[in-house]
Amino acid sequence: MHSRSVLALGLLLLLSLDGEVALAAEDGQFAYQGFVTANLTLDGLATVMPNGLLLLTDPVTEYKTTGHAFHPAPLRFLKSSTTSSTTTTTTNSTAMARSFSATFVFAISSRYDGLTSYGLAFVVAPTSNLSAANGGRYLGLLNATNGTASDRILAVELDTIMDAAFRDINSNHVGINVNSLISRQAKPAGYYSDENGVFQDLRLNSRQPMQVWVDYNAQARRLNVTLAPIQVRKPRNPLLSEVIDLSAVTTDKMYVGFSASAGLSIGTHHYVLGWSFSLDGPAPPLDFSKLPSLPRLGPKPRPKILDAVLPLVTTSLVIVVLAAVFFFL
Ligand SMILES: *[C@@H]1O[C@H](CO)[C@@H](O)[C@H](O)[C@H]1NC(C)=O
Ligand SMILES: *[C@@H]1O[C@H](CO)[C@@H](O)[C@H](O)[C@H]1NC(C)=O
Ligand SMILES: *[C@@H]1O[C@H](CO)[C@@H](O)[C@H](O)[C@H]1NC(C)=O
Ligand SMILES: *[C@@H]1O[C@H](CO)[C@@H](O)[C@H](O)[C@H]1NC(C)=O
Ligand SMILES: *[C@@H]1O[C@H](CO)[C@@H](O)[C@H](O)[C@H]1NC(C)=O
Ligand SMILES: *[C@@H]1O[C@H](CO)[C@@H](O)[C@H](O)[C@H]1NC(C)=O
Repeated sequence: MHSRSVLALGLLLLLSLDGEVALAAEDGQFAYQGFVTANLTLDGLATVMPNGLLLLTDPVTEYKTTGHAFHPAPLRFLKSSTTSSTTTTTTNSTAMARSFSATFVFAISSRYDGLTSYGLAFVVAPTSNLSAANGGRYLGLLNATNGTASDRILAVELDTIMDAAFRDINSNHVGINVNSLISRQAKPAGYYSDENGVFQDLRLNSRQPMQVWVDYNAQARRLNVTLAPIQVRKPRNPLLSEVIDLSAVTTDKMYVGFSASAGLSIGTHHYVLGWSFSLDGPAPPLDFSKLPSLPRLGPKPRPKILDAVLPLVTTSLVIVVLAAVFFFL
């Protein structure tokens, strides 16, 4: 057998492993369809469920509110480019950010319709240990509204709370954040239909799996973020498109992963079903047929207890109070 066919066979075997795909990570590329055999660095509430779902926040555990999951090994985000100046004989060695592309399928599910807490973010950070960062409205990313340039955090937030202090546009938006909880650019969740260009609204907290694409082109210095339901092919027009030079944001070695935070009593589950990533090229496509299924979590109607005039037990009271707070925020 040719070594090429051995390789192909090996890849095929790898692909058929339990519906999981494990691509070599050393070339800056990987794909996970479910996370049973994935080697992730987890902290806080994050766990991998037996069927391979990555659960970032589990509202059962009430004393912690954040969860993180990172690809365990750092990836080289910079490449040194030696540019010779034509006017002088000096050469200048600067490190330039590499192109990258990530895609993932997520789902946000709350115990009750219409009530949700905080959100989920795709993160590029110089450390895989963000356990000291604040939860709640800080999404487990930073512990202040504005970080500093030394934080070197790029995040794509899927934010389900409107927070005036962070100039959030609504309680259902996608944003690009650099070292800050205040987004550089944000849009209501949705996508531009390829058929007619019409904007289609999406609700992040809908229990429906949705796909996100994060694409950075190093030459154009442009970061695009695109969102769509999994039934819809990647829309041609991104939801967000931001000119940004990541050379000034990233260090050479960066970790990629997810951060999420949930409030206490309004139990919100943040799930990631599959995720792929590549440096210098498109992220490997995800095979939806291999993604783990979501637990049957409802849909529960908004609790009757919210409408009831007399909440009888203390926990109900807590839920009612928190629900009211979140509702009118
Ligand atoms: C997980 O990844 C880390 C970092 O790359 C590595 O040190 C460790 O050996 C890996 N563990 C397994 C079980 O593959
Ligand atoms: C190299 O490039 C950096 C950033 O553009 C600049 O600050 C520095 O002065 C340059 N050095 C030389 C020797 O040209
Ligand atoms: C993560 O950082 C915290 C402090 O910020 C530290 O206490 C903890 O030991 C670190 N965890 C790991 C796995 O390094
Ligand atoms: C802020 O978070 C960083 C880690 O992200 C930690 O090292 C630092 O101690 C935290 N500061 C405060 C005031 O909590
Ligand atoms: C964060 O930075 C923005 C401008 O970049 C500023 O307007 C805002 O007041 C800052 N917020 C805090 C809490 O420092
Ligand atoms: C971002 O979107 C624009 C508009 O569709 C497109 O021209 C550009 O190639 C995209 N860039 C990346 C990095 O995907």
